[in-house]
Amino acid sequence: MDEIIVKTKGITKYFPGVLANDHIDFELRMGEIHTLLGENGAGKSTLMNILDGIYHPDKGEIYIKGNKVHIQSPFDAMTNSIGMIHQHFMLVDTLTVLENVALGLKSQGFYIKKTEMAKQIKQISQKYHFNINPYSKIWQLSVGEQQRVEIIKTLFRGAEILILDEPTAVLTPQESNDLFKILKKLVKEGKSIIFISHKLDEVMEISDRITVLRKGKVVGTVNKNDVTKNHLAKMMVGREVLFSLERKPLKRKGKVLKVKELEAYNDKGVKALKKISFTVAAGEIFGIAGISGNGQKILSQVITGLRRATSGKVILNETDITNVSPKAITSSGVNYIPPDRLKVGLIPNLNTVENTILRSYDREPILKRNFIDYEKATGYTKSLITKFNIMVPKIDAPVKLLSGGNMQKLLLAREIAEKPKLLIAVHPTRGLDVGATEYIRKQLLKERDKGLAVLLISEDLDEILMLSDRIGVIYEGQIMEVINIEDAERNKIGLLMAGVDSVRN
Ligand SMILES: Nc1ncnc2c1ncn2[C@@H]1O[C@H](COP(=O)(O)OP(=O)(O)O)[C@@H](O)[C@H]1O
Ligand SMILES: [Mg+2]
Repeated sequence: MDEIIVKTKGITKYFPGVLANDHIDFELRMGEIHTLLGENGAGKSTLMNILDGIYHPDKGEIYIKGNKVHIQSPFDAMTNSIGMIHQHFMLVDTLTVLENVALGLKSQGFYIKKTEMAKQIKQISQKYHFNINPYSKIWQLSVGEQQRVEIIKTLFRGAEILILDEPTAVLTPQESNDLFKILKKLVKEGKSIIFISHKLDEVMEISDRITVLRKGKVVGTVNKNDVTKNHLAKMMVGREVLFSLERKPLKRKGKVLKVKELEAYNDKGVKALKKISFTVAAGEIFGIAGISGNGQKILSQVITGLRRATSGKVILNETDITNVSPKAITSSGVNYIPPDRLKVGLIPNLNTVENTILRSYDREPILKRNFIDYEKATGYTKSLITKFNIMVPKIDAPVKLLSGGNMQKLLLAREIAEKPKLLIAVHPTRGLDVGATEYIRKQLLKERDKGLAVLLISEDLDEILMLSDRIGVIYEGQIMEVINIEDAERNKIGLLMAGVDSVRN
């Protein structure tokens, strides 16, 4: 059981300007699930891509079952029984499962063996309850199913060592559970697994051992049973992380936003909001809890003027702003952190300064005699970067090169600097690592304490419970119930999110 199947010694990898892997010693035991844990940019994918032969290390050695190997290509990795499921799947959409499995196999006469292959795929699929038809086209499959095809591919090629790079990032909680069952079955059968994640709850659930990386270095390897979530967070981030944030007592003031019987349709022409009513006061965070696709996005679009309301009203400080232009809504004091920061929030190819002044380029002091005062703009950007602790390597490089956490910080900084009356934050921490998430949440609480009205829309129930003063649960375009945080029970909210209403049922 304790035999070491993979060992890396001093693996070092440079990219221009970064030391992505700094003398990494790592060991995978036979039959274990070993998690590689680390924040974005810690070097996890780099190390695994080295094991998979996609990158070549500048220094260091790899041993498989005690033998030194040189892995020059994914084919070499395969010959050494290593199979990797990448973050971005490597499947051809227009081909079938069978054809995708066959691709890259070096064996001749694939057409002759087609039926034999289909049989084997079916066998693998049955054994692990994958429920995959070898003749389905990839585009017909859900993301979870495509991931299972990737697993089939590696098993078909005889992988004994499976590497999964952030496999749950693209899955729903239910699909993640299914995947965990599959992984447990695989190790029971003697496979060894390297699992990559930065989500602590799932790491605690699935791992036997955990190796933590930070800034390209190994912080340590621990047994799951010897650690807590807090301990892991501290190893990962390098400092204490608070899973519950300090909240000052609520000082609710006047109502800033009143939403009255609001209705709107989605792009498919289906009614997506059904007589939604709620209010948000200055100094409070009103959280909208719900599973994705229940009208949250449409709601944020209607309030910000990006989508028409078909009936009902949106009132900001006694002024009716229903169906007013987005620009007018912004100038009346509504700022917005949209769900998709690179589509709506930031302009990927513009640089940090240009993105920072998107809200303010058309007025004093940035606009001077009809010209943008670039020096002023740069100074302003630099002040926000410092204040919000944003890591910007080059201020004049396209903003798309920033990490997700830093893009989100920049967006938040820009919107808060406008001193809004109402801030609408949609999934403000989705996809961010622990450190950035904590930072964003603290800023939202800080602004609330200063008297901002915040409408928080999030699918993360922990986030909703951590930040909100009141919670409205949305289901199929309706607010099921509004609950004060003191009375909020996770179970009950979970049921409401699934449409189960204790009164009606
Ligand atoms: N192909 C590449 N070219 C240049 N830099 C890269 C490349 N791949 C990764 N990096 C850099 O190496 C560091 C580690 O990245 P990565 O291994 O992807 O981290 P993780 O998977 O832990 O998020 C980051 O700073 C990243 O920007
Ligand atoms: Mg990665």
